[in-house]
Amino acid sequence: MQESLTIGQLAARSGIAPSALRYYERLGLIRADRTGGNQRRYARAELRRVAFIRISQQVGISLEEIRDALDSLPASRAPTAADWTELSTAWRARLSEKIRLMTKLRDDLDGCIGCGCLSLQRCVLYNPDDKLAGEGPGARLMLPRPHTQPGCDDCAPA
Ligand code: FES
Repeated sequence: MQESLTIGQLAARSGIAPSALRYYERLGLIRADRTGGNQRRYARAELRRVAFIRISQQVGISLEEIRDALDSLPASRAPTAADWTELSTAWRARLSEKIRLMTKLRDDLDGCIGCGCLSLQRCVLYNPDDKLAGEGPGARLMLPRPHTQPGCDDCAPA
């Protein structure tokens, strides 16, 4: 298996345009060596970094956060499974909260989300007179709730 890839090969295998790969490189998200003719050559392991960048962006994580995470990986060698486990452990709470919010968005958008609009019939039940405004701004029923109820997924520690 070829160990180093040209930018064209990296683009073809990752599905990312060469211009985007050069942009990632400028941001320090991926690294390339140069040939004597000053052509980029990427270690095959860079494919995993590119895939991580793309998936993370697709779930709404910023390039700055992605860079901070990738900076935790060793620069002088291909990251091992243990290195990636350490990174994913650091992101677990963040991703779990995103999953929780996406699940609520998928499952609860047809109900009252506690935003103050009082435009749905259910708002009378779940947010009479916009009482949830007292908890703070935003769609209060989509956010972690300020009460402690054993076993409730929506509860945030008081
Ligand atoms: S959906 Fe906005 S207050 Fe109920």
